[in-house]
Order: sequence, then C-alpha cells, then structure tokens
Amino acid sequence: MKSKELSQIIKSRRSIYPHEYLSKPIPKEVIIEILENANYAPTYKKTEPWRFKVIQGEKRADVGHFIADFYKANSPADKFNENKFHKIIQKPQDSAVVIAICMQRDPKERLEEWEELSAVAMAVQNMWLTCTAHNIGCYWGTPKAVKNANELFEMAEGEKCLGFFFMGYVDNAAREQKRTSVLEKVVWVD
Ligand SMILES: Cc1cc2nc3c(=O)[nH]c(=O)nc-3n(C[C@H](O)[C@H](O)[C@H](O)COP(=O)(O)O)c2cc1C
Repeated sequence: MKSKELSQIIKSRRSIYPHEYLSKPIPKEVIIEILENANYAPTYKKTEPWRFKVIQGEKRADVGHFIADFYKANSPADKFNENKFHKIIQKPQDSAVVIAICMQRDPKERLEEWEELSAVAMAVQNMWLTCTAHNIGCYWGTPKAVKNANELFEMAEGEKCLGFFFMGYVDNAAREQKRTSVLEKVVWVD
C-alpha cells in the first residue's frame, strides 16, 4: 500500500506553471514541511549542499524584474520579445512563493561538483513530490540570469544559484503523464 501511494505521487507529479496557480497563500508550516523533506535527500559525505532563499510578498516582484531585465539585456534586438518579457515578470506575481534553489560547495571540495549538484536535484524532487501531495503546483525554472543571482540576494562564498522553484495552489496538482517505456532505457546485465 505504501509503495503504491508513493508510486502514484511520483507518477502524477508534473510541472505546473504560475498562470494556473490560485491566489491562495501557502501556510508557513507547509513551506517548512516542503523544505524539511528537501533536507532529507541523500548527500554524499553529508555535505547537505542545498540552500534555499524563500521569496514571498512584495519581494517576488524583484525576481521577475531580475530575470526579465537579464533576458532583455542579453537578447539581440531582433530576437527580443516584449510579450515574453512581460510574461517573465508575471510568473513570480502569480506564484504564492518562489524559492531560489542554491548549492553550497563543500569548502574543502572533497566531492566533485556534479555530486553536490545531484544532491540538490534530489532535494528538489522531494520538494516537488511534497508539493504534489499538497495540491501545490510547482516547477523548477532555470533562467540564464541565475549566474548573476548575487545581485538579487546575498550569496556565500562557493554558493551557486541553480534556478527558481515557483509554487502555488491549484485545484488538482496530480496529473498523470505518459513516459516512454523504461524498458527501452534498460540493459539487463546477468
Ligand atoms: C533541472 C531542470 C530545469 C528545468 N528548467 C526549466 C526551465 O527553465 N523552464 C521551464 O519551463 N521548465 C523547466 N523545467 C521543467 C521541465 O521542462 C519539465 O520537468 C519537463 O517538461 C517534464 O515535464 P513534467 O515535469 O511535467 O514531468 C526544468 C526541469 C528540470 C529538472
């Protein structure tokens, strides 16, 4: 029964975008539960490299402008799309909470960077599944602007921003999705 429930949540997890979110706040206890589950991701040498900036209220607007301004500044005039620019600004406004996903490199660099990045990605999956169970729509956006994240908030030495996790309640976050068969991706070695 337990494994069935878990598989059901895993298989119904989807990327749900802010234009679908209801304007309903996410209680702090729920945000903490989501982050607490992130904190239980596997972590090689127990470096626990995930770091989070929880952005709410009026501060959400800063995220939209930060990403949109970067897009504008780095798009050739013939490629720049005004509509896309405004849509970028709107996304955090339509979200109840935006969480910046960051990775803190082990100061002694005992691990490869990809091992730390993988641990953070596993933490994000835990967040995503917890959101699904709470009927919170969410997705991980990775705009190129993240390389300048230190302009948006304080970043520690060795900390890197890996994107933004947009969140907001929806009527139903569980949405089945088709995948190609896993058996096409498996080689049985025996
Ligand atoms: C590391 C990572 C980065 C992503 N970056 C973006 C992004 O920048 N913009 C976006 O629209 N979706 C992004 N996504 C969401 C994917 O597009 C989405 O997971 C994919 O379409 C599969 O859909 P599903 O999540 O509903 O299964 C990202 C997902 C991951 C795992």
